[in-house]
Amino acid sequence: MATNSDWAVEAHGLVKVFGENRAVDGVDLSVRAGTVYGVLGPNGAGKSTTISMLATLLRPDAGSATIFGHDVQREAQIVRQLIGVTAQFASVDEKLSATENLIIFSRLLGLSRSQARRKSAALLDEFGLTEAATRPLAKFSGGMRRRLDLAASLIAQPPLIFLDEPTTGLDPRTRSQMWDTIRRLVNEGSTVLLTTQYLEEADQLADRIAVIDTGRVVAEGTAEELKASVGESSLQLRLADGGDVDEARRVIRETLGVDAVISPEAGRITAPMADPDRVTDLFIRFRETGIRLSEMSVQKPTLDEVFLTLTGHGVDSDSVAAETIQKEEVHA
Ligand SMILES: Nc1ncnc2c1ncn2[C@@H]1O[C@H](COP(=O)(O)OP(=O)(O)OP(=O)(O)O)[C@@H](O)[C@H]1O
Ligand SMILES: [Mg+2]
Repeated sequence: MATNSDWAVEAHGLVKVFGENRAVDGVDLSVRAGTVYGVLGPNGAGKSTTISMLATLLRPDAGSATIFGHDVQREAQIVRQLIGVTAQFASVDEKLSATENLIIFSRLLGLSRSQARRKSAALLDEFGLTEAATRPLAKFSGGMRRRLDLAASLIAQPPLIFLDEPTTGLDPRTRSQMWDTIRRLVNEGSTVLLTTQYLEEADQLADRIAVIDTGRVVAEGTAEELKASVGESSLQLRLADGGDVDEARRVIRETLGVDAVISPEAGRITAPMADPDRVTDLFIRFRETGIRLSEMSVQKPTLDEVFLTLTGHGVDSDSVAAETIQKEEVHA
């Protein structure tokens, strides 16, 4: 199959309208072959809908997209052979065991019986499911199902893999295994387009990131570029003497060149920290001016802060809480 294009994905002005709702409202994306591309956005931003259009599962209302140069609408059959899709929700058979599910998928994809068995065992091992391999899925926890679903999508290793929130609901250990797997896929020549709500995940994996919100790309760039746009991190200080607040603020402006935010809580100050190197100067100045600190810490920007800065609103905290509930693992 022809993959002789530098671009795994090129999308221009993609639009999908559901009734009154412009779920995807003119999205442009360019994903270079052989890279990991992260689509970062809050619930309802249009991430899954965008993937569905790129994966030929949903027809765009406007705009166009090509996968390795093949048009998703006119050449849908070719596109389907170039891609693998992991949907956000599992699509495996409840009554069968993990091994049986994977073997069926493998056989459907044309692997021989022995190849199917080998591939299934290797994937179950990679996703930490070996011990549970013979258990019917009905007895799997949410996190285990999620892992199996991902394993199933990786049997055929297509040139372009869409992973829709691959680590939502996974525990931290499994999440980092998943990251290793994604890196392996790319080392072996695949291109990965993943969606995520976690800034850290995009940061760890993605060569470039598009931040989408209400159906539009609101920022695009490397993780470094995006973080720089919200400030690398912030410095949180508590003064031993709350009466020093004004003086401390003045010293911060002089040494860091930024305006500190004074918290209503006595003596608490937050300052954006664009250049960590200059913080040493700040502490020296504090000592010289007799300002004493009782606490200090450095906070990385959270996903919330990135969204706040880029979109003017944060991630919907209710929906994040709902996602967190899925994390519970049942140890049957
Ligand atoms: N089949 C559909 N019919 C009607 N509306 C839909 C449909 N699919 C998605 N939507 C709406 O389109 C918008 C974008 O949804 P989408 O699933 O693409 O968001 P998302 O970024 O994947 O969110 P999440 O992080 O929650 O998965 C939402 O307002 C959603 O309610
Ligand atoms: Mg989604």
